[in-house]
Formats: sequence, structure tokens, C-alpha cells
Amino acid sequence: MERIGVGLIGTGFMGKCHAMAYGAVKAVFGDVPHVDRITLCDVDAVHAKLTADEFGFAGFTTNWCDLLADPKIHLISITSPNGMHREMAEAALEAGKHVWCEKPMALTLTDAEEMTAAATKTKRVTALGYAYLRNPALQHAKNLIAAGVIGDVFDFRGSVDEDYMADPNLPWSWRLTRKDAGLGTLGDLTCHLVSMAHELVGEIGSLSAMADVVHSKRPLANQNGKTAEVENDDIAHAIVRFKNGARGVLSSSRVAHGRKNGLRIEVHGSKGMLWLDNERMNELNLYVAEGDAANRGFRRILSSPAHPAYGKLCPAPGHGLGFNELKVIELAEILNAISGKPSQQIDFAKGLVIERVIHAFAESSAKGNWVQL
Ligand SMILES: NC(=O)c1ccc[n+]([C@@H]2O[C@H](COP(=O)([O-])OP(=O)(O)OC[C@H]3O[C@@H](n4cnc5c(N)ncnc54)[C@H](O)[C@@H]3O)[C@@H](O)[C@H]2O)c1
Repeated sequence: MERIGVGLIGTGFMGKCHAMAYGAVKAVFGDVPHVDRITLCDVDAVHAKLTADEFGFAGFTTNWCDLLADPKIHLISITSPNGMHREMAEAALEAGKHVWCEKPMALTLTDAEEMTAAATKTKRVTALGYAYLRNPALQHAKNLIAAGVIGDVFDFRGSVDEDYMADPNLPWSWRLTRKDAGLGTLGDLTCHLVSMAHELVGEIGSLSAMADVVHSKRPLANQNGKTAEVENDDIAHAIVRFKNGARGVLSSSRVAHGRKNGLRIEVHGSKGMLWLDNERMNELNLYVAEGDAANRGFRRILSSPAHPAYGKLCPAPGHGLGFNELKVIELAEILNAISGKPSQQIDFAKGLVIERVIHAFAESSAKGNWVQL
């Protein structure tokens, strides 16, 4: 396909991100189809009209079902709250559209399984928003591990901490409900950590977890001291066993004061170790246990055109990419898949494997035992 028409549902944090990616991807990658921004959807007509204009969409609607019947639209972005993902994704697939849906896939494991079945049945391209996997530094880490640079991998340490709910007085929102968000930190943050563990070490085979609510009530905005219950996890920690025998520790929190994008991973091997911190996402740190002991230490490798797809975005080493640029790379992979080229996008089937892990955290915590995957 030389041109791909897109529809966008939602114009919040992720909606704007997808819109920026649509605007940039042809200029960045060249060798991808042109993207025509056809229709944007959000619930408020005034806001939808305004953002359609700002985001470069030809039209707007307040009813997402309008995108389904439009033959000019081939790909639909779903950036609405988690509770709407399943209905929107299944309807889009049924209408013959490709789907780029934000993570987590849905509220429950059953929902995610049904979405995956719909993708298999309709044979459309699906993709989930696992942008951190597209970080050139992370992909370089994967290549180093595959090349045996740190030897046999036996241990993974990962933590993902943010402070967007750290203040106990922050108002209650849809993110804190089972109905609209499903899981809490597990769906927001832990799934990213699991995606990185799977990418670098392999699939998790079993785990023992603890998931807790820390701030159990939140004030309702503008309702004079009234509060509402927090229904999903603030914190989730687990020890895990990978299917290949490696082990790991994964911890996550949305109530971690001071952490903004504190997603940090370490991979330990028999010859060395590497680590990456998303708050410095253009730096990969590598230690190889060789040479004169007096000179050993971590090597800080700055992202550069030597690490694909960095050079598509910036010719200058060490100048750095940001989160929104990872979304452009993510979109290029989706367009490759639609064009029938090799693609690294995380489709619904791969996403389901991640969902099984985060739901296993919840199950293990509830039952107080190890869960096999
Ligand atoms: N990949 C990532 O790193 C990442 C980061 C943040 C959020 N997310 C995910 O993205 C999704 C959205 O999160 P967000 O932070 O952008 O939320 P947000 O609240 O900023 O935006 C949600 C948008 O959906 C719109 N919306 C709600 N109901 C709608 C409907 N019926 N029809 C059309 N639009 C509707 C809202 O008006 C709003 O514009 C969530 O699933 C979240 O987990 C992913």
C-alpha cells in the first residue's frame, strides 16, 4: 500500500503521541507508506474539532463507530481508557481495519484472549503500545546478549517506579477502578517491565507475587471532602522463574515519590552485566569481566546511528531520542507489517503472553502461592 488512511480514538496523552507519530513517520523513515490522517474521535465535539485541526486530521467525530464504516480508513488507533479497548478493537477488526491499541490490552485475561482470537480470525495487523522495546539502546542490549558478550544469562532485575499517584491527596480517577482500568500498576507499568524481560531473557514461566493498595481512598475532585475507593494495585512485586531456567526480581510502584520514568533493568550473565535506566534512555551500561582487573568498570554506550533506528531520527551520536520518537519507530514497524515486510511490532498474540504474566501476579497475590504460566 502506498497510502494508509488512519482513524484515531482518544486525544489524551497517548492520542497526541499517536498523532505526532502519524505526522512524522514518512519524513523519518521514507521507506513506509504515506499516512493520511482521516478522522479523529473524542467524546466532546468542541475538543474533537479543535484537536482534529491541531493534529492534522481531515475530519472529526464524537462516535468512534463512524470510523468503522469509512473505506478511507485502514488503521485505527485506540488510545481510550483500558475498559474500552476490547469492544473497540474487536469492532475495528471485524470491520476489516488494522489496529494499533495502547497497552494494557484490556480489563481481564478473557478480554485479551478474545481480542487475540478476533485478530487471528480476521488476519488484520494488530499492535500494542510497547514503545520502550523500540529503544535503540535496549535493542543493542538484546544484540549484545545474543552475541554472548555477557555470557550465559542467569538473572534479571527490573523495577518500574513512577510517582503519578504518590501523593495520597491526588484525586480519584478512572485509572483506579476495576471497571475502566482493570489492574492498576500491573496494567500501567509492570507490563512494560515484563515486555523488556521477555525481550532480553525469554518468557517468564512461573512467579510468586505480592500486589497491594497503599492509599485505599482518594478524594473525589470538587466534591467537598468526599472520597472513593481505590480498587486496584498501587504496588506489585514478584520473584520469577524464566522458562529457560533464569531467575529474576520484578518490582513496580505508581506511588514511588521522585521516580518519573524509573524503569530500570539489569541483566546478569556469566561474563558480564548490562543495565539501562529509562530516565537516561540513551545510555546503555555494559560491564565485561575481562582484561586487567585494575582497569575494569562499566562502559557507558551512548545511542548513536550505530544503533538502529536511531540514525533515522538523528545523524548525531549522543544527541538522544525521547519517548515520542520511540512511538514513531513503533509506528514504522506497524506500517512494515501492513506492507508485508518483517516487523518487530508486538501483536495481540505476543501481548497476550505479557497479559498472562500480569494477571498471574494478581492471582499469585490473591492466593498467596506460586503461579505456573
Ligand atoms: N504506551 C505507554 O507508555 C502508555 C502511556 C500512558 C498511557 N497508556 C495507555 O493509553 C491509554 C490511554 O491513556 P492516556 O494516558 O492517553 O489517557 P487520557 O485520559 O490522557 O486519554 C484518554 C482519551 O480517551 C478519550 N475517550 C474516552 N472515552 C472515549 C470514547 N468513548 N470515544 C472516544 N474517545 C474517548 C478521552 O476523552 C481522552 O482523550 C490507556 O490504555 C493507557 O494505559 C500507554
